Amino acid sequence: MKELSVFSHLLVTKLICLTRAFSLWFALLLSMPSLAQQAILEGDRSVPVEARNGMVVTSHYLATDEALKVLEQGGNAVDAAVTAAFALAVTQPRSGNIGGGGFMLISSEQQDEVVAIDYREKAPAGASRDMFIGADGNADEELSRYSHKSAGVPGSVAGLALALEKYGTISLAKALEPAIRLAQEGFIIPARFSDGIQRAADRLQKHASSRKVFFKPDGSSYQPGERFLQQDLAETLKRIAAQGVKGFYEGRTADLIVAEMQRGGGLITHEDLKNYRPAVRVPVHGNYRGYDIYSMSPPSSGGAHIVQILNVLEGFPISWTGHNSAQTIHLMAEAMKRAYADRSEYLGDTDFIQVPLKGLTSKAYAQLQRDAINRTRATNSATLRPGNPLPYESDETTHFSIVDRFGNAVSNTYTINFSYGSHIVVEGAGFLLNNEMDDFSAKPGVPNAYGLIGGEANKIEPHKRMLSSMSPTIVKKQGKNFLVTGSPGGSRIITTTLQVLMNVIDHHLNIQAAVSAPRVHHQWLPDEIRIEEGISPDTVRLLEEMGHKVVRKAAMGASQSILIGSDGTLYGGADPRRSTSSAQGF
Ligand code: DON
Repeated sequence: MKELSVFSHLLVTKLICLTRAFSLWFALLLSMPSLAQQAILEGDRSVPVEARNGMVVTSHYLATDEALKVLEQGGNAVDAAVTAAFALAVTQPRSGNIGGGGFMLISSEQQDEVVAIDYREKAPAGASRDMFIGADGNADEELSRYSHKSAGVPGSVAGLALALEKYGTISLAKALEPAIRLAQEGFIIPARFSDGIQRAADRLQKHASSRKVFFKPDGSSYQPGERFLQQDLAETLKRIAAQGVKGFYEGRTADLIVAEMQRGGGLITHEDLKNYRPAVRVPVHGNYRGYDIYSMSPPSSGGAHIVQILNVLEGFPISWTGHNSAQTIHLMAEAMKRAYADRSEYLGDTDFIQVPLKGLTSKAYAQLQRDAINRTRATNSATLRPGNPLPYESDETTHFSIVDRFGNAVSNTYTINFSYGSHIVVEGAGFLLNNEMDDFSAKPGVPNAYGLIGGEANKIEPHKRMLSSMSPTIVKKQGKNFLVTGSPGGSRIITTTLQVLMNVIDHHLNIQAAVSAPRVHHQWLPDEIRIEEGISPDTVRLLEEMGHKVVRKAAMGASQSILIGSDGTLYGGADPRRSTSSAQGF
């Protein structure tokens, strides 16, 4: 009997153990991270890369390597930036480019100057307001996103050459050397590269020129570990090295671009190419809790809205409400939706329209917007219209950051818009054309690919630059470069960059943690807070109780950032959301 009771006790104990083990396993299964989250967890090194003399953070380790060598050999941050940009055009053709455009912010401590180089694409002369409106009166997405007409006149080569000429110390030919070598001799394919091509395969396969570059001669796919060569691209880069910008905008490369246009019904002409000029602009400047924020001016909306959102949030005790708490996310979402509503009304190319920049970035306008925020209830976006910053007038791809030992910092974001842009390679020239024309407002009130609404200010006009969200940003503290940051991610660029700033300034995270931390986003319409994996379920519940719709979607942005400590130590934070991201210093 006693034995039986011991036996039954053992049995019960065993059963309890089994049940516990099962529920533990089940709980573990439930809490197991998704693949996206796993990637973030595995890549999150948490500890930044540290160095004294120079730091490069890009989305591809081969580009990081090449740019770092330039710094080690005595070059400055601009030399390294242009080298990285051309190397990325080879190693990461889905967004690194010579067929697109972008923005570069350069801060020189010695000159006490921050300048912005605008090398955004322009609408061809033959572009017209309704060029993407189909016979049914609706915006034709296929035409604005995947056709030859979706390409704006590329600005990258002219912009990078200008940066080097004005602020660099090496020749264009020298900056192109690594890119030419990587295109000619090839490089070993990482998984992210072949996976990306697989995902875009259907669209890339439609064009013989793209098939030729991204698939093997027998039509099969490249595999990780194999070598990827780009002979046509190497020849195009060599023409630029030999002839300068004319090697791209005139002569054989221009002939190849125009021939591609004529084959596919595109608009870019020899004249458009020859007439393309980048511009040196004054960055948007703001101040947040004593830090000077410099970010991109129009035709990007990035700088204006980062400063606007920070101005609104400055009146709230964000450090105290805490990182990614429901209260903080609520306040951020409310400030964000108001800024994106204003974006839809006021932002466009200042060469064509007046943008009320002073009003949008004024502390008084921020006060007005802040006062309209209910601390505990979400404002329904449908009831929210763009504000009126005019009375205060009087007075967002791939990103990399580089800092040298001479007090220079470069923050650069450039893009062909989507991954692989229009998916059309210029036959014989080996590079992808952008589909940046989709960043214009094809029809008032109709969202672009990122769900962004626009109107008159961003309508298509010949030679105009399409509105961007790209936000290369440099923060200074007491006159010294402090934080160099930015991100890709379409409409999420502005909010991604904003959160890296806030994670450092308000939440005192180290730069790696600031870059890796889960992000949130609101863009007015759709009326939802978009969150990444990692925001806790009870935070989501609290936000829903305040009236927010919260949706969990894929990872946002890929911020490659550098923080400069008060003793001059450089800290690099590469974004684990892109598996090829890398920070290196010396
Ligand atoms: O200029 C813009 O705002 C967009 N064309 C950027 C596209 C982008 O960031 C895509 N990257 N993930």
